[in-house]
Amino acid sequence: MGRIVLVTGAGSGIGLASARAFVANGDTVVCGDLTLAAAEAAVAKIGAAAAVAMDVTDEAQVVAGVADVVARMGRIDVLHANAGVSNMKRAVDLTVADWDFNFNVNAKGVFLTNREVVKHFLARGQGGVIVNTASLAAKVGAPLLAHYSASKFAVIGWTQALAREHAKDGIRVNAVCPGFVKTPMQDREVLWEAELRGITPEKVIQDYIDQTPLGRLETPEDVADVVVFLTTDAARFMTGQGINVTGGVYMT
Ligand SMILES: NC(=O)c1ccc[n+]([C@@H]2O[C@H](COP(=O)([O-])OP(=O)(O)OC[C@H]3O[C@@H](n4cnc5c(N)ncnc54)[C@H](O)[C@@H]3O)[C@@H](O)[C@H]2O)c1
Repeated sequence: MGRIVLVTGAGSGIGLASARAFVANGDTVVCGDLTLAAAEAAVAKIGAAAAVAMDVTDEAQVVAGVADVVARMGRIDVLHANAGVSNMKRAVDLTVADWDFNFNVNAKGVFLTNREVVKHFLARGQGGVIVNTASLAAKVGAPLLAHYSASKFAVIGWTQALAREHAKDGIRVNAVCPGFVKTPMQDREVLWEAELRGITPEKVIQDYIDQTPLGRLETPEDVADVVVFLTTDAARFMTGQGINVTGGVYMT
């Protein structure tokens, strides 16, 4: 049995691709998602080992879910805290509900899952690795996504602080910052953005490609390969980083 890897938001897009990449790496993968059905569907698609229902905004579910994975699998070695949501509006039109929706999943969800898994790492005393999914929008403010951007900047701050606090415990914590990734989330955003900017969805997609020096939309696999790398010994001296995986959209 390889490492035990827990991926949140593994039912779709980047999480599904990273779960698949961990399986290909020889790891034993537990797929987490909002519902057991979504998590089980991911397990069936990629040959993962187990499914867990874990709404990352729900403290009780995260506490119980992490404990359940440890009880069933014996331990957790790696967490990819990937679950995330977005919606798009002009900043002046944002409601408290929009703000809370994005912060609850993107920021609180990272906090809760990281906290519970780090507690487990400390109890076990053998270190561990975490990768959080942040975003290009965690490095530069994204128009029509001000609340989302703010929630993803929070992920970078959390990642850096946790990395500093637990480096001495053999725990590494990094983040990936994907760019314009072709996933169901992007499909939704393209429609919202087209409406808000009064242009066609095709033009929105072309704008994404035009901003990307490597000249195409990003794939979930482009992100997944970097996520797996960050968890391996090849990345043993990397912690507290927010690694851009954007095809060059953002370069510092
Ligand atoms: N697609 C992009 O262009 C892009 C770019 C940068 C960052 N990201 C980030 O990558 C991550 C994955 O995005 P994606 O594009 O694959 O999106 P997606 O919508 O395709 O998949 C997200 C998954 O997260 C799950 N999820 C949503 N809320 C949840 C919750 N409360 N608890 C547990 N699971 C939940 C969904 O059910 C879904 O399976 C997100 O954090 C997103 O913000 C995406």
